[in-house]
Amino acid sequence: MRVGVLGAGQLGQMLAVAGRRLGIELRFLAPDPLSPAGMRAELIVAEYENEAALAHFVDGLDFATYEFESIPASALRSVAERIVVRPSVRALEIAQDRANEKECFERLGIPTPRSVVADSLREARAGLEMVGLPAMLKTRRLGYDGKGQSVIRQNSDLERGWVTVAGAPSLVEAFIPFTRELSIIAVRSADGEVAFYPLVENHHSEGILRFSLAPAPGVAPSVQSRAEDFAKRLLDDLEYVGVLAIEFFETPDGLLANEMAPRVHNTGHWTIEGADTSQFENHLRAVTGMHLGSTEVHGVCGMVNVIGQEPDVGRLREIPDVHVHMYGKTPAPRRKLGHITVVAADLEGVRNAVAKVRAVLARK
Ligand SMILES: Nc1ncnc2c1ncn2[C@@H]1O[C@H](COP(=O)(O)OP(=O)(O)O)[C@@H](O)[C@H]1O
Ligand SMILES: [Mg+2]
Repeated sequence: MRVGVLGAGQLGQMLAVAGRRLGIELRFLAPDPLSPAGMRAELIVAEYENEAALAHFVDGLDFATYEFESIPASALRSVAERIVVRPSVRALEIAQDRANEKECFERLGIPTPRSVVADSLREARAGLEMVGLPAMLKTRRLGYDGKGQSVIRQNSDLERGWVTVAGAPSLVEAFIPFTRELSIIAVRSADGEVAFYPLVENHHSEGILRFSLAPAPGVAPSVQSRAEDFAKRLLDDLEYVGVLAIEFFETPDGLLANEMAPRVHNTGHWTIEGADTSQFENHLRAVTGMHLGSTEVHGVCGMVNVIGQEPDVGRLREIPDVHVHMYGKTPAPRRKLGHITVVAADLEGVRNAVAKVRAVLARK
């Protein structure tokens, strides 16, 4: 069995590892010759819209998928003309534009922060009037790790914010004073079978995910089932096949959907060690038409992202129950270079080990 993947970052790298365990060979296409997935599987180095490269890419494949949200939909459509692409091109097109995503949430009755589309500074001013202060200005497309967004605390912040988004089509969104951030990783098979991992608690700073705790502590069963219900509405409506991640703000009035990702997700990395079947394996199972694997979780997991600088891996490995994943990327400020997963019997064990991990990461 051979699966092609558009995009070849660390998500692809971890898909390749999961693929090997399932006897699935992966082939990647991405423009950067140093793409992390290239260390684990065949990599075709080309621009996504290079038609000749896409023809070479699909040759001999059974299925195709993607691990990067900002691939041009036209490239995916071109692949989909020749071979089954899962999740669908439509799912990508919705998720890669925040306005489409919001519309989809609203259509399916999934609560989401109020927002107004702004294609010009004048429209952004009008939008700000409608959603009120404080607010977030976010580009509709291409944003990630907090890039392409700006907090608007007072009216006079808007002009600076408009420069931050480089005048790109944007959204003005209500700022949510959330209790915490949660996410769910859901998966749907080609037969329509669905499975969910428990809600994860996520901590961001400067718009980048730093740390996740799974299962999120203190989640009422009603909150878990509400998140699963929202995920199921999306999965069924989009006739979705593969892993879908949804990020939520938890508020005293319930969950608000912030955004979704039509792919494996950073807040699901803990599933490699922490669940019966990882998100990567379940994505490949779904894409290739297999039954899903169990999403049963053992103990409690903490996941710490390694950002910007190489850590002292030797010292990290000395900490018990710690699993080090380095992606082989060149260090750069704000770049995700790896992640560390801690698995423990209880929350206290995780917090202790995570404190040790953070101490090692901070000392370099
Ligand atoms: N409306 C909002 N209110 C409060 N915080 C927000 C809001 N939107 C985004 N954030 C913060 O910024 C982070 C990144 O924003 P997000 O919309 O998820 O974009 P990205 O694509 O960069 O992940 C969120 O995880 C959250 O911490
Ligand atoms: Mg996000």
